Amino acid sequence: MSTIYIHWAFCRSKCYYCDFNSVPCNQFIDYSKWFIAYKKILQRYKEQYYKGEPITSIYFGGGTPSLLPSWFIVSILEEIDDMFKLAPNLEITLEANPKTIDKTKAFELKKSGINRLSIGVQSIIDNVLKMLGRTHSAIEAKDCVFEMSEIFDNISIDMIYNRPRQNIQTWEKELKEVLEYPIKHISLYELIIEPNTKLKEMIDSGSLPFPSSSAEFFEKTIEIARSYGFEMYEVSNFAKDKHYGRHNVSYWKYEDYYGVGAGAHSRCTVNGHKIAIAQISNNEEWLKWAIETENPEFNEEILNEDDEFKERLIMGLRSKFGVNIELISEHIKIKYGLKNKLKKLQANSYIMNKGSDVILTDDGIMKLNLIIQYLTEECL
Ligand SMILES: C[S@@+](CC[C@H](N)C(=O)[O-])C[C@H]1O[C@@H](n2cnc3c(N)ncnc32)[C@H](O)[C@@H]1O
Ligand code: SF4
Repeated sequence: MSTIYIHWAFCRSKCYYCDFNSVPCNQFIDYSKWFIAYKKILQRYKEQYYKGEPITSIYFGGGTPSLLPSWFIVSILEEIDDMFKLAPNLEITLEANPKTIDKTKAFELKKSGINRLSIGVQSIIDNVLKMLGRTHSAIEAKDCVFEMSEIFDNISIDMIYNRPRQNIQTWEKELKEVLEYPIKHISLYELIIEPNTKLKEMIDSGSLPFPSSSAEFFEKTIEIARSYGFEMYEVSNFAKDKHYGRHNVSYWKYEDYYGVGAGAHSRCTVNGHKIAIAQISNNEEWLKWAIETENPEFNEEILNEDDEFKERLIMGLRSKFGVNIELISEHIKIKYGLKNKLKKLQANSYIMNKGSDVILTDDGIMKLNLIIQYLTEECL
């Protein structure tokens, strides 16, 4: 099983907190040229790495892929259908920003197979949206979710908490309100103050305070989401009635994925080893590489056993699916003293075992970073 990730690295403007590979787009975009580039790179993946396994998820992420014209998304899906074998219950997600999708576009996309929408709401307080540099208002975000829910059954929203000047009471109120929206899934991200962002500048210059209490926010967030019937199945992701985001679950289970677009990443298994591929992150350079090179070469890195173990652990421990310890070699288990460390973590109720899967308990999730650091330190 594998998944496909299509990255569109353009946005209307840059949000003040965002460090993702995305740039504001003010210039004319020759979509036909971009389409040829995406098609060519998909074809390269097919020729070089694809082994005929079913594709279980296609994810249009960004950036703001909802800025793409419908024909582009529809045609990409047709190309993927021609090149790859699609699983019968394929999940196809589009990330959408409020104000970049209307009902007409949504109907066209639904017809082409998109069956999940992930809407970037972030907050439902106008002043906060302004502080974050978002281009939509609270009511526009709400209207977008309600309108889209008439067309798509499976809607997810993104929210950001532990923001400057936020207190736990206002977050509780805001969170409870969005949990009543017609959604099946919610991603609740704790704000990360990234270097080289406008938000960091505002904090450094003293115009905004640094957010303070993250553990308290995290605990309250989990408690409220659960009380509204949302299961925490990953540190930042909550699902109603098991509507897990299949795409991200495949990352956490360390399955293969083919990423296309500026800055997109991939993991492909070749002869039992994981190959990491990072594509050129600059939009113009990526387009030039994809279009002008006759056979674009991927920038491959073969991961060694240690890197693979660390990635598997870092991804797996985040989610309720955990890490299958049997997939880790005896040599690595000894090198990192895993047997003893896992015993100690279990004695302290930080982990539990389900068959050969090691899964963090709620107490363990609270200490996720420390536990990962502990398990990935060599013993020899
Ligand atoms: C790559 S963004 C794309 C989503 C879409 N472009 C949007 O902004 O609505 C995915 C999500 O990551 C979250 N995110 C981005 N930067 C973050 C940061 N510095 N701290 C916490 N969450 C962040 C936001 O919730 C955002 O919706
Ligand atoms: S948060 Fe989303 S819309 Fe804002 S700049 Fe980042 S990718 Fe673009």
